[in-house]
Formats: sequence, structure tokens, C-alpha cells
Amino acid sequence: MNMSNRNSPLLMIPGPTNLDSRVIGALSLPQVAHTGQTFYSEFKDIVELTRYAFKTNGRVIIFSGSGTSGMESSAASLLERGDKVLSVETGFFGRRFTTIAKIYGADVDTLSVQEGKAVTPDLLDERLSRGSYDAVLLTHVETSTAVANPIKELSSVARRHGCLVIVDTVCGLGGSEFRFDEWGIDVAFAGSQKALAAPPGAMLMAISDRATEKLTSRKSPVVSYYYDLRRWIPIMDDPHIYLTTPSTAVLRALRVALQMVRDEGLENRWQRHAELSRAFQDSLVSAGARLFSESPAPTVTAISVKDSASLAKRILAEHNIMVARGLDSHSNDIIRVGHMGIVNKQMLDLTLSAILMEMKQLGEKVDVRESIELHQRTR
Ligand SMILES: Cc1ncc(COP(=O)(O)O)c(C=O)c1O
Repeated sequence: MNMSNRNSPLLMIPGPTNLDSRVIGALSLPQVAHTGQTFYSEFKDIVELTRYAFKTNGRVIIFSGSGTSGMESSAASLLERGDKVLSVETGFFGRRFTTIAKIYGADVDTLSVQEGKAVTPDLLDERLSRGSYDAVLLTHVETSTAVANPIKELSSVARRHGCLVIVDTVCGLGGSEFRFDEWGIDVAFAGSQKALAAPPGAMLMAISDRATEKLTSRKSPVVSYYYDLRRWIPIMDDPHIYLTTPSTAVLRALRVALQMVRDEGLENRWQRHAELSRAFQDSLVSAGARLFSESPAPTVTAISVKDSASLAKRILAEHNIMVARGLDSHSNDIIRVGHMGIVNKQMLDLTLSAILMEMKQLGEKVDVRESIELHQRTR
């Protein structure tokens, strides 16, 4: 990506992200038949590459939809009316998952922590000891607060209590360590538009044997056609079978993006995200800015500010860089910077100096000079 001569804004929002030219190229290929041989073999690649991205040897499901369709389909298919569910809320997307689980009839209790904090394994353990639950809903990276939750430890606690573990890793997969099989997770889902650096429009999911068993042995019908995961399982084995018409252009672009994930290597990719985000966050703090999250994520950073609307507007107008405002009650007092996918140091340097310069213009107390020096030293 040419940084000095950009026509369109640099996307530093928490998805969709900037795309590599190879992924953009795949988007403009001629249409193919969704049940034809070309798409068949490409879809088989996507299935294998998705297994790689989740670090699973088990079942995966990919279909056209956004991250929310992962929430809906897992809730619709794996929760039955009256199932006792503990929904762990660390922000806006955790609350959305609670709402969706209720829509599909689950009996939902919530474990909520103050926004900006992660949930601890001890807290979850204590909560699960007070009741009997069928499933626990977790968020890997809570994009609204830029909080990273300790999924490995939380999953282990939930398993110990005999719960099905369902994880939203929409803002984590491909940018933050995630080991589906090793961590004993039952269902996890992601969207194509975040750390995988593909366009929006594809949902990717991994499902354990335990979850498949629950799916196939459920007593009541799934109250959805599209979100009944049982319909999708045969398609993953044989994409020739028609179920619905997928967004072939998006999926073909996803295949290229996933190949890039595999070529870089997941561990290298996690490390790149960790190093870049740490340098960015350290520089912000040493310049006097305040991070909203007490458990900063490698894919997104939230910064407490006085007036996020004016700040985001200035960063776009003066620097051609797009950052996001907060959500819900934090829409005016935080800005969120996405740094995932093909993000590199140059993008973050530009974003850091733009944020600090414009915060200063708006009267916030930040030391621009010192932060830029520190950032250069971390090169
Ligand atoms: C953690 C998390 N979950 C779910 C979603 C919903 O995804 P989508 O907007 O693709 O439906 C998002 C979107 O930002 C997210 O960050």
C-alpha cells in the first residue's frame, strides 16, 4: 500500500481493514458458478485454511454473513429453549450476544464487569459455582472497549464446570493467539473483515465434536433456516450441493487473504500484531494519552478523549486517516484505532502522530515531541 499518495483514507478502524492488492485483485475476477468446479476447489481450500486459522483439526463452517451471523447461528443451533446460559459481558458485543441468546429462548444470566476491564478466571469460576449452566458465552477481543479477555483460562474454567464454551473471536482471529483445539473451545466464530484482512461478508466458525453432538441430538427444531448449522455441515464436505447462493467474490477474496495468513504463519502474525500494538500503546501512554482498556488488545486500541467526534473528524480531514468513535455510552469519550490484518509500523507511526497532533489542537494535554522520539527509538 502506497502511504504517501493515497486517494482513499487509511482505514485504521476496527474493521473493515485495509486490503492487500492480491485480495483486491480476487474481488474483481469474473463471476464463477457457485456450484461449479472452480469454486468447488477454491471453497475446499477455504475450509482447510479456516482449520489452520482456528488451529483445529475438526469441523469448520463458512457462509456468507457478517460476524453477527456467527452469534445468531451459534445461538439458534446450539441453545435450546430453557438452556441455562451464562453470558460474560465486557462491553457492547458481549451485551449483543446476551440479547441474541435470549431471542433464541435461552435462560440467560449475565456476568458483567466494568467497561475497560477484562473478566478474570477467578470471577468466572466463582460465578459458575453459584449455579448450573449449560453454556458460557465469551468474547475474545471486545472491540467496543479494546479489551482482550484471557480465553485460554476462561475456557478451562468453563469446561471444568461442564459448560459448552462459545467464543466470539470476530476481532481476534488471525491477530491474537487463539488455539481452538488446545484450549478446549466448543464453538468459535469470526468475521472476514478484521484481522484476517478480507472484505466483509463471510462468517467463519469452528465446532468441536461435543458441540456437533449437541447440535445433532437437540430435541426442539432450530427456529431459523439459514442459521441452522446442521444444514451447512454437508456443504462443507461437498460444496457442489446447493443450499443458498454464496457471495462468491467475497469468498474468493477470503481465500487469498487466508493464504496470506498461512504464508506468514499464524505465530508470526500474532507476534507482529503484539509487537506493533505494544509499541503504539506505549507511545500513546508516554505522550500522556490514556488507554481506556486495562487489558489492551493486539488488534484494537481505545483512547479516552474529551470529544471523539471532533477528533475523528480532524484526523480524517487533516491526515486522511479514519479512526472510529466509541459505541453506546462511550460514543463521545473514546476513539478506537484498529491495527490488524496487513497493518505495519508505517501505518501506526502515521496514525500515532495524527492522533497526538489533533488531540493537542483540541486542547488535550499530550506531549507530541516526546512520543515521536520514543516511537522512533522502538523502530
Ligand atoms: C467482537 C465483535 N463481535 C461481533 C461483531 C459483529 O460483527 P459484524 O459487524 O460483522 O456483524 C463485531 C463487529 O465489530 C465485533 O467486533
